[in-house]
Amino acid sequence: MPSAIPHDRLPLAFGGDYNPEQWPQEVWEEDVRLMREAGVTLVSLGIFAWARIEPRPGEYDFEWLDRIIGMLHEAGINVDLATPTVVPPAWFYRAHPEALPVTREGVRMGFGSRGAICHSNPHYRAAAAEITSRLGERYGRHPAVVLWHVHNEYGAPVLTCYCDTCEVAFRGWLQDRYGTLGALNQAWGTAFWGQLYGDWEEIGVPRATPTVVNPAQQLDFQRFADGQARANFTAERDILHHLSPGVPVTTNFMAAPSQCQSIDYWAWAREVDLVTNDHYLITDGRRTHVNLALAADLTRSLAGGDPWLLLEHSPSGVNWQPHNPAKEPGQMARNSLGHVARGSEGAMFFQWRQSRSGAEKFHSSMLPHGGTGTRVWREVVELGGRLADLTDLRGTRTRADVAMVWSWESWWAQSLEWRPSADLDARERLDSFYEALYDRHLTVDFFAPDALSALDPARYPLLVVPQLYSAPASVTADLERYVSRGGTLLVSFFSGIVDEHDTVHLGAYPGALRDVLGLTVEEFDPLLPGESVTLRTAQGDVYTADLWSEYVVPGDGCETVAVFADGRTAGRPALTRRALGDGAAWYLATRLTGGDLAAVVDLALADAGITPADLPRDVELVVREGESGTYRFAVNHTDAEVKVVLPDGSRAAVAAGAVEVFREPR
Ligand code: GAL
Repeated sequence: MPSAIPHDRLPLAFGGDYNPEQWPQEVWEEDVRLMREAGVTLVSLGIFAWARIEPRPGEYDFEWLDRIIGMLHEAGINVDLATPTVVPPAWFYRAHPEALPVTREGVRMGFGSRGAICHSNPHYRAAAAEITSRLGERYGRHPAVVLWHVHNEYGAPVLTCYCDTCEVAFRGWLQDRYGTLGALNQAWGTAFWGQLYGDWEEIGVPRATPTVVNPAQQLDFQRFADGQARANFTAERDILHHLSPGVPVTTNFMAAPSQCQSIDYWAWAREVDLVTNDHYLITDGRRTHVNLALAADLTRSLAGGDPWLLLEHSPSGVNWQPHNPAKEPGQMARNSLGHVARGSEGAMFFQWRQSRSGAEKFHSSMLPHGGTGTRVWREVVELGGRLADLTDLRGTRTRADVAMVWSWESWWAQSLEWRPSADLDARERLDSFYEALYDRHLTVDFFAPDALSALDPARYPLLVVPQLYSAPASVTADLERYVSRGGTLLVSFFSGIVDEHDTVHLGAYPGALRDVLGLTVEEFDPLLPGESVTLRTAQGDVYTADLWSEYVVPGDGCETVAVFADGRTAGRPALTRRALGDGAAWYLATRLTGGDLAAVVDLALADAGITPADLPRDVELVVREGESGTYRFAVNHTDAEVKVVLPDGSRAAVAAGAVEVFREPR
């Protein structure tokens, strides 16, 4: 199986989604000329082109695609060729309206948008396999095709379908998973609210109900839906492996939790030949470059630390948020090179030429409506030049400083109804802890909770668990091993509470983490909106917390570092540290944000022996290293010049808003 785009053959990827089918052929000549001018090396082609390739059932028009692939090849531009299976043509839905997904409320969606797919539908599956085979047969050995782009962003805009076909498939999936109805009843806790099943046919998809649906049923349905889409991906991938030997197959992820919740990317990452990601800046009040860094670190972690590729980001504003600011001068390069610093083998955009019609005409593009006389175009050309100069870094790996746990499954579980507080938010905790580490200029590698057995404290002296509501029982032994061998563990509240069926780990909270933390939590006591509590350390430091408090009972050897100084839990431990073997396990029993959270993270960093770089806030220092040397990326998001200290002790200037890459040959 191919593992990635071969390094020796290609420059860093630079380009974007290219939709020539939206334009008359005269424009294509200009496109290719301008792509060369900008230094474009790769384009993603044909993502939404099924109706153009197969205008009527079984009638194919490849002439236009032959022509544009030929033109690109002649110009030395490589192709990331898509299977267009995210939008089957109108004729397909006319013949198979039942391939349109059905909502929880029983409403069948309509055609006229994109991504309207019931992933269990046999007609869709057959048609997707057929068009993939046709493309694989025709272009599988074309020298321009260096990557296959299956579908587009599985999981968006809709993943789950509640139709009858899905219901039957769901029952089959459950039979495979549980074997017997007894095991299913046990796992789902159906004794509660009288939901016991006596026949497989009685089990349904979690349609609209009077009140909360069984949480274990909801979780299994989410896993099932994710698995149906993944099966469709692997079916297309296998066809392409057969017809296009040696060419890697990918599908573009949206790994940042700010972009997609419905896909378990740990599972998907095992299926792609090259991990690729799309990332867009979200205007949610947080610093967008911090979320970008998180997305890139998480994507690299999905790739197991190997190089990956940013397949989409925006040259300037997007058009699908309520308010869509343009990027400032220089911000695009900071974004693009920020991804490269964290392991991307290039920077690709949505999209090459700004559309004239359709839903995305106000989304920025590399070549804007205003043409080449625009700031965006000038910055695109400049970025192309910078990436060309960095070609040698292909294959180098980003060096991470600390480890963090993230689980989509736990996020799904925690997001279900009727938790102790409706304001619990695993994503917010992830963002906040990540931000505290980012502000210390540290690079993070993420791990799934079932991948901690080999975590080496010498490589990752600090492991942060921002919120892991649902944790496999294996974390108990894995974390004990990590800490006793010298690791520093920092766990935040509402972690280790339930197993994968949303069933509580018994014997006092936080079940799976109780032993390693050396404490128990007798009772949760969430705070009301607007309520806050004060924490006080023995040294007299004071922090302000909100959202959560709880009754912590420290065990032997568990030291109280800070107490709740007021509120209903006054006098109880709020921050603890337990020395275990050569390491220590910290527990934070409430929600701290901003500088207060940073202060606690600093305590854990000091305990772990990590000394952060002495740099202003909003200056990133990220290192890629490998055979061709060491590349030190300094990304200055501030509006003042900064000086970074290089390994030889010299100080190098990085201008306001600039990115510098300091290279040391090996
Ligand atoms: C992505 C999608 C692209 C385009 C882009 C706009 O999610 O894959 O096709 O819609 O968003 O930001």
